Amino acid sequence: MKGIILAGGAGSRLFPLTLVASKQLQPVYDKPMVYYPLTTLVEGGIREFCLISTPHDLPRFRQLLGDGSAWGLRIDYREQSKPSGIAEAFLIAESFIGKDPVTLILGDNIFYGGDSFHKAFADFQGGATIFGYHVNDPERYGVVEFDAKGQAISIEEKPAQPRSNYAVPGLYIFDNEVVAVTKALKPSPRGELEITDVNVDYLRRGRLRVHRLNRGFAWLDAGTSSSLHEASAYVQTIEKRQGVKVGCPEEAAFRQGFLSREQLEALTVNLPRCEYRTYLENVVAEANRLAQES
Ligand code: G1P
Repeated sequence: MKGIILAGGAGSRLFPLTLVASKQLQPVYDKPMVYYPLTTLVEGGIREFCLISTPHDLPRFRQLLGDGSAWGLRIDYREQSKPSGIAEAFLIAESFIGKDPVTLILGDNIFYGGDSFHKAFADFQGGATIFGYHVNDPERYGVVEFDAKGQAISIEEKPAQPRSNYAVPGLYIFDNEVVAVTKALKPSPRGELEITDVNVDYLRRGRLRVHRLNRGFAWLDAGTSSSLHEASAYVQTIEKRQGVKVGCPEEAAFRQGFLSREQLEALTVNLPRCEYRTYLENVVAEANRLAQES
């Protein structure tokens, strides 16, 4: 399974924060926003990534994440020169996807809790898998409607009159046909290749699975200054209470076995003295202790 992180857009709702650095580079509590979706996919066992952003912002992402090798990952970069829609990612990344299935995550989607995604990756056998999450304001999202048996029967993009409260979060798993499906799409009235139209195509062909995420799961929005602030407060609350970090790619790569204990230790000692380093030192110390005991 390959992973695409889409980190484009003008970030106009966060202006003036986004005048110099793009939305997905803004801090969410103690780390850049893009760390969170990257960690979500690493926790799901994905190792090969393509990050798509604007020509203006791409160099910053490269500076931040490099080629991924320090974390046992591979990260390629591609440009989206104009905001032509989320689904365009599959065309931009066609050569990266090759013959594999692919997960697309939006660079401003922050998830926390449970193993729903991990399970969905492990169970994925083709077609498309998306998720439904109960929200208060479904009209801001793709909205999925279920019948009495829990089968998805419709999906609409930002409907004025939503047929349910289930929004579709920005994490989508597709088989390799997604490239051909996207090539056959026509741009929507707003001139974009819509991810919802891709999902509708899979739904029509009976190839779409929609998992409802349970209420113990957090999907945070960070698209406006107040929701960005709330996301930071949420992450701070969890991290303070539990003493674990949310969205720490180094730790996730280590727990997935993409980095050895020695590699994690080596990269930790090269970090400047900061709270992030102390956290990783503790992860290493705990792993060393467990290794000695066994
Ligand atoms: C996009 C999708 C929408 C989805 C949402 C999730 O909306 O078009 O279907 O529910 O992401 O974050 P946008 O954030 O571009 O308004």
